[in-house]
Amino acid sequence: MQIVKIKETPSTNNYLRELLKTEKPEEGSIIITGIQTAGRGQAGNFWESEPGKNLTFSIIIYPHHIQPNEQFVISQTTALAIKNVLNTYTAGISIKWPNDIYYSDKKIAGILIENSLSENIIEYSIIGIGLNINQEIFTGNAPNPVSLKQITGREFDLDELLEKIQFEFLSIYKKIPSEKIRKNYLESLYRKKGFYLFKDQQEEFQAEIVTIEPSGLLVLKTKNGSYRKYSFKEVSFS
Ligand code: BTN
Repeated sequence: MQIVKIKETPSTNNYLRELLKTEKPEEGSIIITGIQTAGRGQAGNFWESEPGKNLTFSIIIYPHHIQPNEQFVISQTTALAIKNVLNTYTAGISIKWPNDIYYSDKKIAGILIENSLSENIIEYSIIGIGLNINQEIFTGNAPNPVSLKQITGREFDLDELLEKIQFEFLSIYKKIPSEKIRKNYLESLYRKKGFYLFKDQQEEFQAEIVTIEPSGLLVLKTKNGSYRKYSFKEVSFS
């Protein structure tokens, strides 16, 4: 698998999508840039990354074996790969549903996956990852960013980390059955046990996480014992 370095681009996800119009990079290939000028985050947010300090990259896969209604396993695979690599440097890493990577109560990485569906097949999946590594000051609107350097007090080699993530991602993607990926993801969840405050469109309420369905739906149980199911953006941790 190739790792292609682009000096500067608005967004590695966009770059890869354009590239796919004329080329078919090998599964697991990566486009990475040191300077991402219009990095896209979830919900149309801007992804802040100081030039040369962090990992901002996109991986290409062709997951024809994954049913579109189970595409959430791609998010779970990606989140687990990042978590596993970060765990070799620090404790306290978890996955905040659906796919933010957290250190304690702060966000160290975000994932933006863009799937191309045709008929009942996922033709390709562009997996965009922003991982804060050596940045020390964050100036954007993100509420709670943190970097690996802020956690550990030392600098990291970006190329080395990238190769580890590529390797870990492909190992999980190619070798681990979906059932096991879902189980490992559940075990890695942020606030996986106990009651916490959540907020939906109507109200704030106390609930605990019961499970995540293969579709990605979050199942909560409230204090009075009733169950509630949510898709992305319908609910947040309060
Ligand atoms: C989030 O908001 O949590 C997702 C952030 C994803 C950012 C990455 S950086 C590389 C790739 N290219 C983009 O434009 N976005 C993703």
